[in-house]
Amino acid sequence: MTLEELYKKVVEIGKKADPRSAADIKRFMKSRTEAYKKLKTTAEKELFRDRLWNPYDDTRIIFGEHKRKVGVVFVGIDIGTEDLVLISQLNELRVSKGKKPIDLAMAHHPEGYALGGLAGVMDDIQVEVLRQAGVPVNITEKILASRVRDVEISVHGDNLHHTMDSARLLDIPLICCHTVADNNAFQTITRIIEKAMPHTLQEVVDALMKIPAYEKASHHFERPVDIQVGSPNSRAGKIIVGGFTGGTEGNPDILEFAVNVAGVGTTIDMHMSRKHRELSEKHRLNTVVANHMASDSIGMQPIVDMMRKAGIEVIVGSGYIDAPLP
Ligand SMILES: [Fe+2]
Ligand SMILES: [Fe+2]
Repeated sequence: MTLEELYKKVVEIGKKADPRSAADIKRFMKSRTEAYKKLKTTAEKELFRDRLWNPYDDTRIIFGEHKRKVGVVFVGIDIGTEDLVLISQLNELRVSKGKKPIDLAMAHHPEGYALGGLAGVMDDIQVEVLRQAGVPVNITEKILASRVRDVEISVHGDNLHHTMDSARLLDIPLICCHTVADNNAFQTITRIIEKAMPHTLQEVVDALMKIPAYEKASHHFERPVDIQVGSPNSRAGKIIVGGFTGGTEGNPDILEFAVNVAGVGTTIDMHMSRKHRELSEKHRLNTVVANHMASDSIGMQPIVDMMRKAGIEVIVGSGYIDAPLP
């Protein structure tokens, strides 16, 4: 498989698990084709090119010729310069033992241009996840706008070249697979919760702890699935998988509407800011937080399984919890 073929397969996996319908994604892509026509400079057009077929701006080949063959992949939740140096050390060892070197680094969290695209996946997906929960689209859209802008501004000041430059200097191709994977995690958790129909928060925890990745995490880390607002006996009420996909945490001001308009009783997230937790408490919303690394690994697992099926050797590191999907 070439790097480009792998990239296309990853985007297909993400689309299949997208909370939006195929028609929604089509409409979203159409609006991009219109936006492309208005671009003037070659640089703008070049940067936009992937957006014409890939709806996920945080999923990109950061470095590497697209035609390169992929045989051995290092998969990690975060790949920074230190991980690329680790890969290069591992390759020395592997080659000395007659093994094929790692020829691709695959990160979950976005780096470089993929991090620059984080804001681009927030609006459409988060509005849809909350619409399915019962929050009107106009409310989410308006509340989310300031947060999307904040994310854009904070990323604008980041060193987006750092990891990309390290990959180039070490000549290790690098791909980031972010929302494509988070969509999978969203679908898996939703399916498990819908099947278990938990009555209390403890039953939510019990249902999630049956997922192999969280069970595996529990050997290293207490309470990988943690009740952060509410108590084990609290009634769960209507449960939403709120904080799993759509780039990054949304604007927690939406919680008021999730509770009072949509009647949500419990959210499941994979990490939560203090402001988010305080607003959950204020609006009497229960919150269950499922271990971040295990949750992101659940999202990446269909990609890892696809690569293994295609005969690619996968080496995991950087927080990746390699466990079968439920
Ligand atoms: Fe994630
Ligand atoms: Fe994450």
